[in-house]
Amino acid sequence: MADHLAALVAEYGNPEDVIRLARLPRPDLEPGMVEIAVERAAINPSDLIPVTGAYSNRTVLPFVPGFEGVGTVSRVGAGVTGLKSGDRVLPLGASGLWQSYLQRPAEWCFAVPDDLSADQATTAYINPMTTLRLIAELKAHFGGSSGLTGRRIAVTAAGSAIGRMLLSTFSAEGADVTAIVRNKTTLARLLVLPSLQTCLARENSSGSDRVFDAVVDAVGGDPGGSLLRQNLAPGGVFLQYGALSGAPIAQAAISARPDVRFAFLWLRTFIHSAGRQAISNALAQCLDGIRDGSMVSHIAATYPLSRLDEALAHQNAPDRYGKILLDPRC
Ligand SMILES: NC(=O)c1ccc[n+]([C@@H]2O[C@H](COP(=O)([O-])OP(=O)(O)OC[C@H]3O[C@@H](n4cnc5c(N)ncnc54)[C@H](OP(=O)(O)O)[C@@H]3O)[C@@H](O)[C@H]2O)c1
Repeated sequence: MADHLAALVAEYGNPEDVIRLARLPRPDLEPGMVEIAVERAAINPSDLIPVTGAYSNRTVLPFVPGFEGVGTVSRVGAGVTGLKSGDRVLPLGASGLWQSYLQRPAEWCFAVPDDLSADQATTAYINPMTTLRLIAELKAHFGGSSGLTGRRIAVTAAGSAIGRMLLSTFSAEGADVTAIVRNKTTLARLLVLPSLQTCLARENSSGSDRVFDAVVDAVGGDPGGSLLRQNLAPGGVFLQYGALSGAPIAQAAISARPDVRFAFLWLRTFIHSAGRQAISNALAQCLDGIRDGSMVSHIAATYPLSRLDEALAHQNAPDRYGKILLDPRC
């Protein structure tokens, strides 16, 4: 069988320097496995972090990046039931989407309805499902029957894909939402979104005396630490799920607030513990969110995998607005 195009990481480092294109063989299928012809894959911040070596204790070199994408089943291994060639699927639970053909265990492949476009299907998993998990955590923290109604919630990096999904969902739940972003351009983009008109957007939190019941943070470092120390009400919750600043929140900031709950949420914890039915149910909620518009990602551009260098440069461009997708077929 002919070889195929893949992005490959053979050493840790700066993603633009160490992710290289390669021709890989298409091995025989083991029992229980399916081969997927990948149609579209996303570039997410969480794809690039392992490339730097940040999770070297659980990463095996060489590897193909890409946790999110959609394709069609091209071959089916012995013993596989419920999937056949031509079925459209989202393969979850491991990296490897940045290549033309991917092998995954059949039980990790989830059907994708035909009404979703390739772009929608490609971005239907990681950010929507993380959004759902964050909302579930908040609701569990606050308890009671009123949900998030009236809760004062701050969302950092609010212009990110997840940030927008959180703003939209919190607003629909009747929360008192504050969107925190780092620049005026992002602020202006948020303010014109009809679903966000109830949000108070501000250009960063320094000097703010606003008090929140919850902070949902993807920035970490000093900005996150400052919010935790100064802006969280007693009994509140600080949910961190990213560290876009490149730094963790200082332990001193966490220790300074024994009166609040601090937690880091990982989608992978849910994915690797919830079981197939729970994941399938969560995915159905994500697809509903795509259909009603609350979990749609803006797409900035789609690049052929053969132009990966341009795609990665665009991903890192300061003026990028939306997701960069790859077409691994070319
Ligand atoms: N814990 C999990 O399981 C999990 C799952 C999925 C994603 N994540 C994390 O969620 C975060 C967002 O992912 P995404 O796919 O939604 O991102 P995205 O759509 O690629 O957007 C990235 C955003 O980050 C903002 N940003 C970058 N560096 C920043 C900084 N130092 N301070 C403030 N804002 C900064 C940018 O803001 P501007 O537009 O203003 O420049 C941009 O809006 C990432 O950290 C990712 O790793 C975590």
